Amino acid sequence: MFKQTPAPVPADDLAASLAPFGQSRMLPREAYVDPAVFEWEKRNIFAGWHCVGHASDLDGAGAQKAVGAGANGILLVRGEDNQVRAFANVCRHRGHEMLTCGATAKRRGIVCPYHSWSYKLNGELRKAPGFDAADAFDSGQFGLAELRLVDWHGYLFVDPSGSDVDFDLHVAGMEDIIGPYRPEDLTVVARHSYELETNWKVIVENYQECYHCSTIHPELSKISPPTSGENLDLPGDWIGGWMSMIDEAETMSLSGRSGGVAIKGLSEQELRTVMYLVGFPNLLVSLHPDYVMTHLMTPLGVDRTHVECAWAFPKEALDKPDFDPSYAVDFWDLTNRQDWTACESVQRGLSSPHARPGPLAPDEDGVYQFVTRVARAYTGSR
Ligand code: FES
Ligand SMILES: [Fe+2]
Repeated sequence: MFKQTPAPVPADDLAASLAPFGQSRMLPREAYVDPAVFEWEKRNIFAGWHCVGHASDLDGAGAQKAVGAGANGILLVRGEDNQVRAFANVCRHRGHEMLTCGATAKRRGIVCPYHSWSYKLNGELRKAPGFDAADAFDSGQFGLAELRLVDWHGYLFVDPSGSDVDFDLHVAGMEDIIGPYRPEDLTVVARHSYELETNWKVIVENYQECYHCSTIHPELSKISPPTSGENLDLPGDWIGGWMSMIDEAETMSLSGRSGGVAIKGLSEQELRTVMYLVGFPNLLVSLHPDYVMTHLMTPLGVDRTHVECAWAFPKEALDKPDFDPSYAVDFWDLTNRQDWTACESVQRGLSSPHARPGPLAPDEDGVYQFVTRVARAYTGSR
C-alpha cells in the first residue's frame, strides 16, 4: 500500500483495533456499514495492488475482459505479443466504458461502443472517425491509460494508482509457499459465481479463522480438525496459515478421498495440509494437495460483494478418463454456502446501531493480522 489520506473512521476505535493481540477489538462498525468508508477503500486500498483475475481468463491475442466497476473499472487485453495489459476502462473521447463490467470480447482491436473510436491491442489510438481532416488532432495523445499489471503465477494483479510499492514487496515471502503448487500450470475446470449481501472484509475475516468451523462446518471439521495448524508471519501484504487433515484423508472432500491426482513435487507437509492465504485485499487462495481453489472478491457496495470461486487441477487429473471435479467443487460449494449464510447474518447484525467492535478469541490471530492490516491502512500508513 502507498501513502494515503486517513479513512473517515473514529481514531479511538482504530487505536483499539491496533492494540496488542488479546486486548484488541474488531474494526469500528463504520468499516462495514458506512458508504463513506467504502468509497475511501475504493480510492485507497483498491487503488493499489489487487487481483483482477487469472491469465487464462484471456484466451489468445485479442481477448478482452472488463473487470471491477466505476472508478475501479479496468479493461484487460491480451496483445499480439501475448502480453496481458491493463487499461482504465474509459474511452479517451467522452469517457464511455470500452466494455461493460464483466463483459468479454475477442477481436483485433479495442472498439468503443459509443462513437466507434478504435484502439490497437496495446492501447494506442488507431482511428477516430471524422478526425482525419482535423489538422490539430494528434492521435498519439489519445491512447488508453495503461495501468501497472503483473502476471504472478497466472494471477493478474493491477496497481491503478501507479504508486503502490514494488510488486516484489507486495508478495514478499509468498514465492516459497505458492511456487511449489505451480498454479500457472493448473487448469480451471469449475467456477461458481456468488453475490453476497455483505462487506468484503466480513468474508476475509471469516476465511481467516476456523473458530466457527465446529459450529457451522460439520463436514469440514470431520476431515480437518478446526484447531489444527497455525498462521504464518509473512513480510509482504499477504497473510494466512495452514491446517492439517486427518490421517485417512487425501484432500478436502466429503469423504476425504481425492478424485484427482496430487500436484507433482509437493513436500510431505504440503501433501498433509491445506494452506489458506489472503492476497491482500481481495484474493483468497486455498492450496490443496491435488487442487487450488481461489475466491476472487469484487466489492460492489459497502454491503455487497461479488465472489468468483474457481477450482484448478493439474493436467494429470484432467487426463484421467473418469475425472470428475465435483468431489472438490461440491465440498467447497457446501462450505461456501455455510460461510455465506454466516457472513450475511454478520452484516445484518452490524447494521444495528447497537453493534460494537468485539474482542478476538485466541484462535482468531489470523483475523487480528487482517484487522490490523486494514486499520493501519485506515490511519494512512502501511
Ligand atoms: S466515448 Fe468512446 S468513441 Fe466517443
Ligand atoms: Fe468457514
